[in-house]
Formats: sequence, C-alpha cells, structure tokens
Amino acid sequence: MTGMVLPAQLKPVRRAVRTVALVGIDGSGKTTQAHRLADDLAASGLPAVYRRNAGGRRWFGRLATAMGRRDGDDLLGRRAMLLVESVLRWLAILRTMLRRTVTRELTVMDRYAVCQYASLRAHGGERSAERRARLAYRLFPEPDVTILLAVDPGVAYDRIEARGYDHEEMAFLRAATAAYRSLPEYRSFVVVDANGSTDQVAGRIRDALAAHLPKRVPAPNPATTRRRLPALLSNTRLVVLALGSLLAGVTALGYQLVEAL
Ligand SMILES: Nc1ncnc2c1ncn2[C@@H]1O[C@H](COP(=O)(O)OP(=O)(O)O)[C@@H](O)[C@H]1O
Ligand SMILES: [Mg+2]
Repeated sequence: MTGMVLPAQLKPVRRAVRTVALVGIDGSGKTTQAHRLADDLAASGLPAVYRRNAGGRRWFGRLATAMGRRDGDDLLGRRAMLLVESVLRWLAILRTMLRRTVTRELTVMDRYAVCQYASLRAHGGERSAERRARLAYRLFPEPDVTILLAVDPGVAYDRIEARGYDHEEMAFLRAATAAYRSLPEYRSFVVVDANGSTDQVAGRIRDALAAHLPKRVPAPNPATTRRRLPALLSNTRLVVLALGSLLAGVTALGYQLVEAL
C-alpha cells in the first residue's frame, strides 16, 4: 500500500473546503471515518455534518435475504439492481445537496457520484449505463476534496465479515478496487491508506485535510440569507434540485418506513 497522501494529487484549494467525500470499496471504513471526521470537525468548532449518499444496495440485500434470495442482484437482476442503485444514489445526493443549499454546513459525505461509476464498472454494467449515469450526475458539483480510502481487499473482507450483516466475495472486492483505480477521477482523489486501526486512519485523514480546512466558517447572516433566496431561485440548477426534492422526500420517507425490515 502506498503512503497516506500523494501531495501531487492535491489541487491547490483557494477557498475554504465545504464538501469532503469519503469513497472506497465496502469495508474500507467510509462510514466509520466519515462519522468520526464530522464529529471531530464539529468538536473543533466547524459546522460539520455527516451525510450518507447510499444507493440502497444493502437494503435490497436484506430484502432479498428475507425473500430467500442471495442478494439484490439475485432478486432484481444485475442490470435492474444497477439502475435502481443509480436512481436511489442520485436521489440521496440530491437530498444532501438540497440540505446544504440552505445551510453553511461543512458536509462530510459517505460516498458520492464516483461510487456509482465504480459500482457500474465493478458489477460489469454496460458502458452506456455509465454514460447515462454520468449525464444524470453531472448536476452535482465535484466535492472540494474526495478522499479515497485505499484498503487491501483482504482487510476489507475481514472487516465486512466481522461487521456481520452482509457479505462480499473477495473477487468482487478486488474488482471494486480496480474499478476505483480505473476511473478518470482517480487522479484527483486524495488517496489515504485505510489499512490499520481506526485511530491511525482517522489521523491520516486529518493530516490529508489539514491544509484545506478553514479555521472557522462564519455563521450564516440571516439578512444575506434572505436576500440570497430570489437570486437562488433563478438558478436553474436549484430549480431542478427543487423539483427533485419531493421525490427525494418520498424516498427518504420510504427509507424510514422500511428501516425496520
Ligand atoms: N480501521 C479499522 N480497523 C478495524 N475495523 C474497522 C476499521 N474501520 C472500520 N472498521 C469496522 O469495519 C467494518 C466496516 O467499516 P465501515 O465503516 O462500515 O466501512 P464502509 O462504510 O466503507 O463499508 C465496521 O464494522 C467497522 O466498525
Ligand atoms: Mg458504509
């Protein structure tokens, strides 16, 4: 495994970082580290929040098991599962983006659009499916920093087994590793060695981010927030976001309703 950060990969960031995405294969520690990072940043006075951009694959996996099937692919078919995942993740990211449009939060995201491109590649999706996904996800801005948690597939495998609520084949974890590396976005990722203890990985993430974090983000000024709204509404991106918000809300509600399953 390479060192924790390859400085050459870092684009100089002039303005304060407002979005950080943690990406990587299952078991790389995204959820653990994104929560930890958001908590640590919040403790240091930054308005950091954890946001999850899930694609629903795990939920469908649980549904599949309950219905006597192996996983989501087995239940829906590989291509349909990829389509469903692409749509659900798109909605999840939309919800994240809508929330941050009205706040000054520093968003720490557990997965982002690139995870969908990697998933499409790792699950053997058609190139045309990735092209369509890229078109749809173009709506979403690139995070200021995307951290790729690079983990040995064997380590990820053991972590997933220890986690105990799902299962991944080694071959798939290797394919997913290769998929992330093959992405055109790979060169812009900050690669952090995600092997080792939770504390070690958290330390590497903080080191990697240190140069990019603001000292403090000013609290929103209510007056300027009010003035910003009409201008925001003329922004087509925001209108599209607003139109999708109802859908996103329904999805969110759906997730809550089926969480107990
Ligand atoms: N550095 C680490 N060392 C050991 N176990 C870890 C580490 N990071 C996470 N874990 C554990 O491994 C499992 C997978 O981590 P998780 O954060 O869920 O990964 P991901 O969200 O990338 O799939 C969880 O049970 C978590 O508690
Ligand atoms: Mg996770």
